[in-house]
Amino acid sequence: MSILKAENITLHYPNQDAAVLKNISLEIPESSLTVILGESGCGKTTLLNILAGFQQANSGAVKIDDEALSAPDARRAVVFQEHALLPWLTVAENVAFSLKLQGLKAAEIKPQVDKILATVGLLHAAEANIWELSGGMKQRVGIARALISHAPFILLDEPFAALDAFTRENMQEFVLNLWIKEDKGFFLITHDIEEALLLSNQLVLMTARPGTIVETLHLDFAQRYRQGESIRAIKSDPHFIQLREQLFARLKDQKLHALEG
Ligand SMILES: Nc1ncnc2c1ncn2[C@@H]1O[C@H](COP(=O)(O)OP(=O)(O)OP(=O)(O)O)[C@@H](O)[C@H]1O
Ligand SMILES: [Mg+2]
Repeated sequence: MSILKAENITLHYPNQDAAVLKNISLEIPESSLTVILGESGCGKTTLLNILAGFQQANSGAVKIDDEALSAPDARRAVVFQEHALLPWLTVAENVAFSLKLQGLKAAEIKPQVDKILATVGLLHAAEANIWELSGGMKQRVGIARALISHAPFILLDEPFAALDAFTRENMQEFVLNLWIKEDKGFFLITHDIEEALLLSNQLVLMTARPGTIVETLHLDFAQRYRQGESIRAIKSDPHFIQLREQLFARLKDQKLHALEG
């Protein structure tokens, strides 16, 4: 089982006083759920871009096991907040796009696309146009595009921010089921404290200016879902509520300090 690692990542834009990221180290093992929670502007997307290989750090390394990585490759797939879909293509064509670029033939592509569409529950919508889909369906197309690469690591940047509360919870359940079914390492950015608690084995708290990791919590709520407990039962558990309130207070406190500073 592989581990995607950030080792002592520091990134400092020349035109800014403080580093955006300072000495960030974390490990994302395959078949784990890592969530980053932190105020707007603390460097979450920058960290995801560095982990994906889109952006280079000033110092430190991104590795899979002991291999240092300097460019994007097929082992890390990204789901963007703006579900970067191609509106002139159908759902199936959007999902097939990267396989076409790799030069695969239609006969090889179709079974793979059908399998992934079945995984995300969109087989019935294969021939639909993007503008005919709901927000949640669009997000699932984005996730299908990431899954078709067979990357062992899936990086998601606030994928459900634009969804209503009910659709959002359905998508949270969808990610948990995907995590149970597929042996992948998930790295998810969110602003939503409930979502962060539910969807993580390790919850990483970041502060801003410079962006550093202040704490890593090891949680078992996702594991409890895996063992059959419902999402509603988990979210209404007193321990869950207590942690949610504690985190809320801490993040609010950080914001106040930032305003004062
Ligand atoms: N190309 C760039 N040049 C200079 N500064 C940048 C650049 N990209 C991002 N920044 C700055 O780096 C900081 C972190 O940005 P980033 O997008 O990583 O934050 P974030 O935690 O993802 O925020 P949000 O939650 O709002 O998405 C911000 O202060 C931003 O202005
Ligand atoms: Mg961001």
